[in-house]
Amino acid sequence: MILVTGGAGFIGSNFTLDWLAAGGEPVVNLDLLTYSGNLGNLEALRGDARHRFVRGDIGDRASVAKLLAEHRPRAVVNFAAETHVDRSIHGPDAFVKTNVLGTFELLEAVRAHWTALPSGEREAFRFLQVSTDEVYGTLAPDAPGFAETTPYAPNSPYSASKAASDHFVRAAFHTFGLPTLTTNCSNNYGPRQFPEKLIPLMIANALAGKPLPVYGDGMQVRDWLYVSDHCSAIRAVLARGRPGEVYNIGGNAEMPNLDVVRTICAVLARERPGRDYAALVTHVKDRPGHDRRYAIDPTKVRREIRWEPSETFTSGIAKTVRWYLDNAAWLDSVQTREYQSWISLQYEPAH
Ligand code: NAD
Ligand code: TYD
Repeated sequence: MILVTGGAGFIGSNFTLDWLAAGGEPVVNLDLLTYSGNLGNLEALRGDARHRFVRGDIGDRASVAKLLAEHRPRAVVNFAAETHVDRSIHGPDAFVKTNVLGTFELLEAVRAHWTALPSGEREAFRFLQVSTDEVYGTLAPDAPGFAETTPYAPNSPYSASKAASDHFVRAAFHTFGLPTLTTNCSNNYGPRQFPEKLIPLMIANALAGKPLPVYGDGMQVRDWLYVSDHCSAIRAVLARGRPGEVYNIGGNAEMPNLDVVRTICAVLARERPGRDYAALVTHVKDRPGHDRRYAIDPTKVRREIRWEPSETFTSGIAKTVRWYLDNAAWLDSVQTREYQSWISLQYEPAH
């Protein structure tokens, strides 16, 4: 079996569902259920003996050690993290706690467990760290995409905390020989993404007839990857990646934010006509320290892992909008009081 952390969040739940659908081993899913974790994301697995959910903190070394001893997973895939850049600007503490200290505690528990395994199991074991391209900082408009050799230069408290955790993963390989893999992935989108991130926020606001808040000039560029492609990349790296290596994963879909928002409006106009969605676009104050451009050089993962994304932005965004239209109850259920207070803190100018 495998241990997935953060598997009630956006990417972790998609990964767990896809992994089991692809015939993968049973999953033990450790998640703290913070504001972005939601058991509703795993509803399709209710009663499925191949999935066991455990509510807990990756930073609780003793509990993680117990789980490892009980289930003896052959791999750990670490998705658990605080993930929203804007929240890291308002309150970086939680990012240090989970992303830096939590990952460190998790690694220590895993290392102790791995050290005691019989030699065949030790060699086959993998710890996969799910990281982000944001650790590389920002790119000039014409610069080549981030390669695995690009120096880390994080600019937000979020990316700084992810960078720190990646360094501990690297050190666990180099110093102790723990068979680690690290993936640095570009921006994901798709079903079950919490509506604080650009794409689901825009879909939710557009459906509610609320303004679509574009930071600054909206010309910041991201490389968008449909979530099931990220999940297939992680499965491929877990199967074929070399211990100690880093793999950058992207969607070959660089686009300025304004184009992303306009595309969402166009898909909505087709799927749910009757409102001028594009008229809701509103430019708001820019994010402090806002990275201008991210892009991935996918050469290594393509050559070594033989992985490529299968969705284009056009196909992926159509599926994504459709999912949010078909899952209005999910969207409703995650817009809690906590969510409303985040939205007013972040978007109401009085703050
Ligand atoms: P998310 O915020 O939707 O989910 C995070 C999950 O982690 C939640 O279920 C939450 O409850 C859980 N969690 C938080 N703190 C925890 C703790 N201390 N112990 C156990 N569980 C905890 O995030 P996501 O978008 O699914 O991101 C998952 C991973 O992928 C993160 O590590 C993130 O850095 C990375 N990543 C995300 C993107 C993206 O575009 N979303 C891109 C590249 C990499
Ligand atoms: P986000 O989804 O927060 O991902 P990240 O900051 O990790 O790339 O934001 C994606 C881009 O969209 C980023 O350039 C910031 C911008 N953005 C807005 O313009 N308005 C918004 O309300 C949000 C949440 C993001």
